[in-house]
Amino acid sequence: MLHKYIRLHTRNTMMLRSTCATRGKQLTRICVNRYTSSSSGGGQAEQKQQPLTPRASALTDEIIRVDHAGELGADRIYAGQMAILGNGPMGKTIEHMWEQEKCHRKQFETLIQQHRVRPTVMTPIWNVAGFVLGAGTALMGEKAAMACTVAVETVIVEHYNDQLRQIMDSPNPDKELLATITKFRDEEQEHHDTGIDCGAEQAPFYKAMTEVIKFGCKTAIAISKKI
Ligand SMILES: [Fe+2]
Ligand SMILES: [Fe+2]
Repeated sequence: MLHKYIRLHTRNTMMLRSTCATRGKQLTRICVNRYTSSSSGGGQAEQKQQPLTPRASALTDEIIRVDHAGELGADRIYAGQMAILGNGPMGKTIEHMWEQEKCHRKQFETLIQQHRVRPTVMTPIWNVAGFVLGAGTALMGEKAAMACTVAVETVIVEHYNDQLRQIMDSPNPDKELLATITKFRDEEQEHHDTGIDCGAEQAPFYKAMTEVIKFGCKTAIAISKKI
């Protein structure tokens, strides 16, 4: 009776134990593939489990979470600007920057899955806040929209430069992340320069407005690093 039970159980459930050795650490996983009986009596796997990849280091985890949040916010800011100014003379310029932000966001969405990083719990807030900021400043005029771009991109360029220094100072620098952030930092700098070239500094209350936006961005970065 016991022998019969063991045979049945073995047919229905297969346990595979595999060991993945990565970066000197070993991750052990147990995959359980359930087999179900078909009408002909044969077995068929219901699902395959994806192989595990090593968890990101604390620094990489923090960088990917905050940058994913930042690029999401940037995407929404330009979406807000396009909603108001998309058909105007600045439309093409804003659209070009928006397309680059979409690529940045997509890249961090890939990285967040690849490294199994938890996105910030603030994602829905940044989603709405970004659009409101972009559309709100665009409603004040093209120069105000550009002032918003200058303020946001100033903070992002500083933020990316800080991260590049942190990665380079780390014991095992992630070269792929370094290259990604370097490329994005250069494109954010271009966005900043475009804003200046398009008359951001002539926007009403330029100084006060950019200081408020910079403070908001820095606060969002500090929050997104941790939660
Ligand atoms: Fe970006
Ligand atoms: Fe940008």
